[in-house]
Amino acid sequence: SSQTKANIGVVGMAVMGSNLARNLAHHDYTVAVFNRTYARTQKLIAEHGNEGSFIPSEKIEDFVNSIATPRSIILMVKAGAPTDATIDELLPLLSPGDIIMDGGNSYFGDTIRREKAIAAKGFHFVGAGISGGETGALEGPSIMPGGSPESYKILGPMLETISAHYHGDPCCAWMGPNGAGHFVKMIHNGIEYSDMQVIGEAYELLRGVGLTNAECADVFAEWNKGDLDSYLIEITSIVLRQKDPRTGADLIDVIKDRAQMKGTGTWTVQTALELGVPTNGIAEAVFARAESSHDDLRAAARKYLAGPDGTVSVDDRTAFIEDVRKALWCSKVVSYAQGFDEIRTGGQEYDWNINVAEAAKIWRAGCIIRAKLLERIRQAYTDDPDLVSLMAASSVSAEMEANQSAWRRVVSKAAESGVPAPVFSATLAYYDMARAPRVNAALTQAMRDYFGSHTYERVDDHGHFHIEWTGDH
Ligand code: NAP
Ligand code: ATR
Repeated sequence: SSQTKANIGVVGMAVMGSNLARNLAHHDYTVAVFNRTYARTQKLIAEHGNEGSFIPSEKIEDFVNSIATPRSIILMVKAGAPTDATIDELLPLLSPGDIIMDGGNSYFGDTIRREKAIAAKGFHFVGAGISGGETGALEGPSIMPGGSPESYKILGPMLETISAHYHGDPCCAWMGPNGAGHFVKMIHNGIEYSDMQVIGEAYELLRGVGLTNAECADVFAEWNKGDLDSYLIEITSIVLRQKDPRTGADLIDVIKDRAQMKGTGTWTVQTALELGVPTNGIAEAVFARAESSHDDLRAAARKYLAGPDGTVSVDDRTAFIEDVRKALWCSKVVSYAQGFDEIRTGGQEYDWNINVAEAAKIWRAGCIIRAKLLERIRQAYTDDPDLVSLMAASSVSAEMEANQSAWRRVVSKAAESGVPAPVFSATLAYYDMARAPRVNAALTQAMRDYFGSHTYERVDDHGHFHIEWTGDH
């Protein structure tokens, strides 16, 4: 009724915003809804208005006035300039203590900037990563909010209610001040890129030994029953069975092999470079998408560059498939280890004090990278919040040890057969570099001192040294 004020408002009635508004309404909240173009709001009410209690408004002033104070307003609009424009329209209409939550895929640096400006005006600003795509938004996403602890007291219970749940635990938790939530969401997407790339590499190797798409689908379905159990492995087995309605061919063979991206994977790697965190698995996944779309390069290389054709010959196909499964598991663990390192380091660098175990906890359901592995990761970081690397957690290291020779055989076989496996090989190099008693950095330091007097450290003394390189021997 017109007297009832809404518990919460949602701005942006595209797919994500309208699904989140419906999710809130399904949980008995009264939801104020607004969209720049009113037709979208009308469409939501026409199609879903009977699912719960909505208060639609055509004017943003009416929308704001329809929400009970202190107001909670969720923005689900395009990231970037549209988000700033929407915030600027809302601010003059708010009362002290109101909360604006940005649930879009905003860059965490933008969130830090916005939070500072909005907090100075007496309002709360919550940057929240939301994962799970459109189904997640409707049925329960994973939600990663950042911002003031006071705002989480008000908003948190509603977000936890509508989030996905893992054995009763909500997949929503406060990640830390200002940009922490969008930072964690950014890393989620970086891990998503490497997760998808290693699945793709495994698929190409299975095709290389002669499996049909349907046989590959069976293998992925089987893997999904074990340690690799995850949403992305599950959908891979579904995707590989899909037929093209136009030609009757396997749809996967009709889709162009050019991967696109919206940028969150790139941000993860750019930020890792700035923080000095080695995330070569995630980086290779981003570069693999870029190389796949580099038509000129690929056309020229196909014409001029020699090499094997990607056929993988093995004596025992079943044993090789099992090796690929183990390699996939190892590369996946390293990718997650790299992503969690970035969360830990970013959390320190930006004074967010992020609880790494909480990030793993809220990724166990709802989000795109949900996987059985995440419960082990949560446990590992709960047991030791200062864990140097996930690879070194006792629950993981024994299995890494058991699987690493299979991983090596797969990387060798891929190289020998001409099957590109950038993340399989980069993560193996990272693993070996981490465990090597001595790496090639001494020679790098020697050359730097030789050509630029940049100095080196010694194994038998403290301090920085420089010599006149005379070539004496
Ligand atoms: P979207 O296409 O990213 O955004 C469309 C919405 O933004 C519409 O409400 C549109 O209003 C509004 N908008 C665009 N430009 C505007 C402007 N200059 N001023 C005011 N409003 C403007 O929709 P989406 O896919 O639902 O995503 C919403 C947000 O969630 C994005 O930040 C996206 O990155 C993030 N996200 C998406 C997914 C996903 O799976 N798609 C998952 C997680 C997060 P009009 O109707 O008037 O044009
Ligand atoms: P999720 O965490 O649920 O994966 P997401 O980060 O929005 O949510 O990504 C879901 C899908 O929507 C991804 O394919 C993403 O594209 P990239 O993988 O290329 O980054 C895509 N996506 C994200 N934001 C989008 C936007 N503003 N418009 C269109 N597609 C978008």
